[in-house]
Amino acid sequence: MNFEIYPFEKLNKLLENVTPNTKYDLGALTIGEPQFKTPAFIQEALCNNSELLKKYPASAGLPILKEAMIGFVQKRFNVALEKTQIIPTFGTREVLFNFPQFALFDKENPTIAFTNPFYQIYEGAAIASRAETIHIDLTKENDFQAQLSDEELKKCDVVILNYPNNPTSANMTLEALGEWVKKALEFDFILINDECYSEIYFDEKNRPASLLEASIHAGNSEFKNVLVLNSISKRSSAPGLRSGFIAGDAKILKAYMQYRTYVGCASPVPLQHASAAAWSDEEHVEYFRNVYKKNFDLAKEILGIDTPVATFYIWLEVEDELEFTQKLYEQKNIKVLPGSFLSRNGLGKGYVSIA
Ligand SMILES: Cc1ncc(COP(=O)(O)O)c(C=O)c1O
Repeated sequence: MNFEIYPFEKLNKLLENVTPNTKYDLGALTIGEPQFKTPAFIQEALCNNSELLKKYPASAGLPILKEAMIGFVQKRFNVALEKTQIIPTFGTREVLFNFPQFALFDKENPTIAFTNPFYQIYEGAAIASRAETIHIDLTKENDFQAQLSDEELKKCDVVILNYPNNPTSANMTLEALGEWVKKALEFDFILINDECYSEIYFDEKNRPASLLEASIHAGNSEFKNVLVLNSISKRSSAPGLRSGFIAGDAKILKAYMQYRTYVGCASPVPLQHASAAAWSDEEHVEYFRNVYKKNFDLAKEILGIDTPVATFYIWLEVEDELEFTQKLYEQKNIKVLPGSFLSRNGLGKGYVSIA
């Protein structure tokens, strides 16, 4: 399989002959890894259940975890999910890699579309599925809003959106997501929204919508052809817990669950208990949001950028993203990612991604 070199490896190569100014110690602003301590109550739930390491975890996940996730979706998005409409997963990365392989396996001319620039796993999944890829280019001109022509939509078997978006930090409204739901029904493709940044928002009155809500608004209350992914990694500053879920179309999920029993990446039982605690609490997420908000206030002062609706990314326009990245490292010991490492079709040229 011919995978692209991962962006962080490309970055290491770009910086290998650059000597950083070690007078500064700001660290890496490249990786989407929250830099806070995982809250104590989550760590305690993990320790209190450590004796359960003796058990094999079931692929379907513990009822307590599923209930906590259903509770989160209900509280946050006012969507009441049935147990058959959600599967707890080992973070969302594994799903993004294996779900397309599952969904595209039987297709004659497998075709997947995803937003560009993108989280690199989408492309890995396309390659592993031997699928034709349609890049949904997000540009300043289209306000970073995903659009495809009817001709392109006709070809799609799976479409992955990612709003709130990594790395552009763009958001999509409930109405616009609803339009995508209608397209998924009209052209009969599986529509996924990767919503792992939905909880890193900054205005209670303008919270990112979920594709699940949009589906109901669009009259598709059974979520036919619609799936969302969400994750605890960003919201709880706990990427090491590896807790996420896929939710939506029960018919697709039933078949995917069967596939997952073979994939075998069930979450260890103590981690599931800790994850259930994390999904059930909002106070700690509120605390993290406030810190990110302060960071964006600083970014506004320093870079003159507006705070986005959500995410912890800045997609900063620069003249030459490679030269900018090298100079920033050399002069201030700060690592950022050239936008071109995260995009195809020359799209990230003139941008850097700052986490
Ligand atoms: C857009 C996007 N989707 C998914 C993930 C995967 O997150 P996890 O596997 O921790 O749930 C990330 C992580 O950086 C991401 O940026």
